[in-house]
Amino acid sequence: MLELRCPDLDAALATFEALGFRVDAVIPADDPQRIAVSRGDVHVELVRVPAEPAPPPPPLDVPPLAPALVVTRAHGEAGWHTGRAGMQYRDLIPDRLGGWLVASHIRIPDGGPVPDYVHFHAIRFQIIYCRAGWVRLVYEDQGEPFVMRAGEVVVQPPTIRHRVLESSPGLEVIELSCPAVHATYADHELALPSGRRERAWGDQRFHCGALAGLADATGGLVRAGHGDGVGFGFVLEGRARLATGGQTFDLERDDAFAIPPGQPYEASGELLVLTVR
Ligand SMILES: [Fe+2]
Repeated sequence: MLELRCPDLDAALATFEALGFRVDAVIPADDPQRIAVSRGDVHVELVRVPAEPAPPPPPLDVPPLAPALVVTRAHGEAGWHTGRAGMQYRDLIPDRLGGWLVASHIRIPDGGPVPDYVHFHAIRFQIIYCRAGWVRLVYEDQGEPFVMRAGEVVVQPPTIRHRVLESSPGLEVIELSCPAVHATYADHELALPSGRRERAWGDQRFHCGALAGLADATGGLVRAGHGDGVGFGFVLEGRARLATGGQTFDLERDDAFAIPPGQPYEASGELLVLTVR
């Protein structure tokens, strides 16, 4: 028999009855502490326990960076898959640098309302660049919902609550997160918008706007252009060329690359170029 620990026995019983379970035993009848319910072969014992706060999220586990030269081709529709909240994803660094970084090309072809909920991410950093279209978003302590447009970037500090509300048809964003595998938690308590106030999350701040604001908002973890760290590039339009380590790569629209820290490279064309530390 499955034992389920419930602070609110009445609510738990109502949930199971709504699922078609029936009560088999109540102990004791005058002040129930245990209620056995069943449906067919499934037997569950609901056990009253004191209410406790939800356990804190586990500490953030960031694997060490495994530097690599990675060039990822667009390959048309291959490589796209459907992820959370109906959004389509494409992995721009399948290697993921040892689990240190994930870079995703995300799109919502049809646009319209997004079936999202208030949530947050256990991350070291996360940034989102809008490549095409627009998306309406709302963030904890950042006032009313706003629209992010092509060419703008959002810095989502660790654990900031947020929700995607609506997008244009053909929305495309590039999202970079460290570590590659991280947990997304729903927040059922906080309603957004939650007003507006100046605040920081550790040494990071919320930012929506020009790429130039990246370095400041992320506390130096991500910056636009070349710098000291992992190089990342994504071809926004037309053709581009990457030269590094004695090799030359002819790139096309939607191709992406990652460069190990300290390895010089030259990239020409219409590219999004970032440095990540
Ligand atoms: Fe999110």
